Amino acid sequence: MKEFKADELAEYNGENGNPIYIAYHGKVYDVSESKLWRKGLHMKRHRAGHDLTNDLQAAPHEEDVIQRYPQVGILKKVDDERQLPQPIAFLTARFPFLRRHPHPMTVHFPIVFMFSTTVFSLLYLFTGEKSFETTAFHCLGAGILFNFVGITTGIYTWWLNYMAKMLRPVKIKIPLTLVMLVTSVIIFIWRISVPDILINFRGLSVLYLVLVLSLSIMVTIIGWFGASMTFPVEKD
Ligand code: HEM
Ligand code: HEM
Repeated sequence: MKEFKADELAEYNGENGNPIYIAYHGKVYDVSESKLWRKGLHMKRHRAGHDLTNDLQAAPHEEDVIQRYPQVGILKKVDDERQLPQPIAFLTARFPFLRRHPHPMTVHFPIVFMFSTTVFSLLYLFTGEKSFETTAFHCLGAGILFNFVGITTGIYTWWLNYMAKMLRPVKIKIPLTLVMLVTSVIIFIWRISVPDILINFRGLSVLYLVLVLSLSIMVTIIGWFGASMTFPVEKD
């Protein structure tokens, strides 16, 4: 039976009319005939051409659905763990959730705090209630702190699960994350130096407000491109 290396398997992804293969527990199956794997994408989430053993844990069905399809080969085993630094290899083997989950678990914090900075600033401008402006400032501080957590876990998951490959979403995420960090620090220092920058609204306040609005836009784009890697949009 044919033995597939991971990069060989990746070619059987259903793109450009290629056959659609998936690997499960070391066996490679041909699911080209399945309507549910059209163009190599299953449930708008799982991509053919990969080892999907771990992904099946989240599925509403068992492995018997895979066994409906012919086995066409076996997947060549690569001992990935051995190439990892010892503490990371140990921890990811002992606690498998540490491999993929830290980034999705932590990115909600910078997202919500950056959004809240914009929302509470606008609420202040619409209502004149000063505590909204103070809340916006506090959220900004939290957004800056949690952005570092997002960056750390992002670089970790990119290195661990994507071999630090310069994929398009990452090419956009990294510089934009840094721009968002610099922008948020500028706003924070500005607000400390001039606490009434929004309260006594003047010419420069418009620039301050534009920067505050830009946080929500940037965090949306960063999140969107991140999610495009975990939840690919189906192409027609
Ligand atoms: C969030 C994860 C998933 C969801 C929501 C999902 C959902 C479904 C549903 C609703 C079906 C039809 C059920 C049936 O025919 O009995 C199906 C079939 C199937 N699924 Fe999944 N699935 C998921 C993950 C996976 C993964 C990770 C694999 C591969 C390891 C997989 C392989 C298959 C196969 C081979 C079929 C049979 C397709 C056919 O008969 O045409 N699924 N899936
Ligand atoms: C520069 C540092 C960053 C890098 C290298 C990076 C890289 C990645 C990678 C590789 C993924 C895919 C994860 C997977 O497939 O499991 C991802 C997902 C994601 N990233 Fe980042 N990221 C970074 C910073 C951030 C920041 C600061 C945010 C938010 C403020 C963010 C939001 C997201 C979101 C929402 C997802 C999707 C998570 C999911 O679908 O569950 N990322 N990122």
